[in-house]
Amino acid sequence: MGHFTVPAWPRPAPNALRNLQAVLESGRWSLPGPWQGHASAEARFAAHFADFLGAPHCVPTTNGSSALVVAMEALDVGVGDEVIVPGLTWVANASTVLAVNATPVMVDIDPSTLCASPTAIEAAVTERTRAIVVVHLFSSVVDLDAVLAIGERHGIPVIEDCSHAHGASWRGRRVGTWGTVGTFSMQEKKLLTSGEGGAVVCRDPDLADRMFQLRSDGRRLAARPVEGESELVADCSVAGTNYCMSELCAAVLDAQLEALPEQNLRRAENAATVDKLLQELPGLAPVRALPSVTERTYYQYAVRIDREAFGGVTAETVSRALAAETGLPFQTPYPPMYRHPLHRPRTKRRFLLVGRDPSRLDGPAGGLPETERAHREVLTLHHSVLLAPAGAFETLPAAIEKLQQQAGSLRAVESAR
Ligand SMILES: Cc1ncc(COP(=O)(O)O)c(C=O)c1O
Repeated sequence: MGHFTVPAWPRPAPNALRNLQAVLESGRWSLPGPWQGHASAEARFAAHFADFLGAPHCVPTTNGSSALVVAMEALDVGVGDEVIVPGLTWVANASTVLAVNATPVMVDIDPSTLCASPTAIEAAVTERTRAIVVVHLFSSVVDLDAVLAIGERHGIPVIEDCSHAHGASWRGRRVGTWGTVGTFSMQEKKLLTSGEGGAVVCRDPDLADRMFQLRSDGRRLAARPVEGESELVADCSVAGTNYCMSELCAAVLDAQLEALPEQNLRRAENAATVDKLLQELPGLAPVRALPSVTERTYYQYAVRIDREAFGGVTAETVSRALAAETGLPFQTPYPPMYRHPLHRPRTKRRFLLVGRDPSRLDGPAGGLPETERAHREVLTLHHSVLLAPAGAFETLPAAIEKLQQQAGSLRAVESAR
């Protein structure tokens, strides 16, 4: 296979520079900066993103981690509480729970979606569970009907972490609008990005007001702003922190959002092509969307391998060999969060004080079998790859067949590592 050229990411949308320049010259670079007689870039982006999602309220934040913290603080999650999180996700889903002095309770995934298993969530609920955080991982949407039913049955709010799924829909409605709160990351690798950035969305105006204050040092918008003075006033019902998105990031995001639908469409078209090519090969099963997913997004394209078809080696070995053979940057999913090198709950004394049993911070005794298996069996491709021209993937099957025929050398490579 010819060497694949990975399309550049991030890529500035047509209006990014124009928007950025307007903010640079505006005299207001931050939300608390002097009001210029018109809506801030942050407020404009919030309105456009809310509209895109069909969410009544949106509050931008510095990043996806602060979005999660703001969501949990707004829902009054704190000391002694447990928050259910998936075992297969970025470490922020544990670190943000620890940041609000609660205990992350990691649950196993549904092997078909790679998202948290509703059965595992239900089994993890205790009288201390204060929130359920689900992640729409890679190109999947969690079984929202099942998760929301569990939340409702037990009176526990569901937070949808949509950091991988800007624009995905479940039964015709965008993800992020189904749970009590939806959170987003706009970090550099994401489908919608300003380098760093985040947002929370919700339906409840009181919750939105709380989240606004929680990320603005407790401040609210002035009812009648005065030109040249801060639009934020010290009118406070809850103590906050500064997690405000910069005007510069908001200006970039507003432009990137305009480009998102077309980019998502292109990724979906290429993903369908790759699906078709891969499913005709033995030992490869692209991860499928649940039937209720009406609009699928691809943060990472994911395909499960039957290791036997590759001489019994792990996905890690296959991903490296395939990347070398094709130039396509194949990767493997995160290791289970409890053994991720960045999950270090014992490095801060206060983390050990958050729950009744500090050993729970190390993850579930006995591990999470499906989460472990996904790490050994799943290959992923970053969405930038799916922005390639049509036809860029035609020779992928031949490269895979070649590797399968050379299973002996794959085994040798793996045992030498
Ligand atoms: C699923 C998920 N949640 C939360 C985050 C945290 O977002 P950020 O890096 O913007 O803080 C990320 C990562 O980047 C993520 O992948």
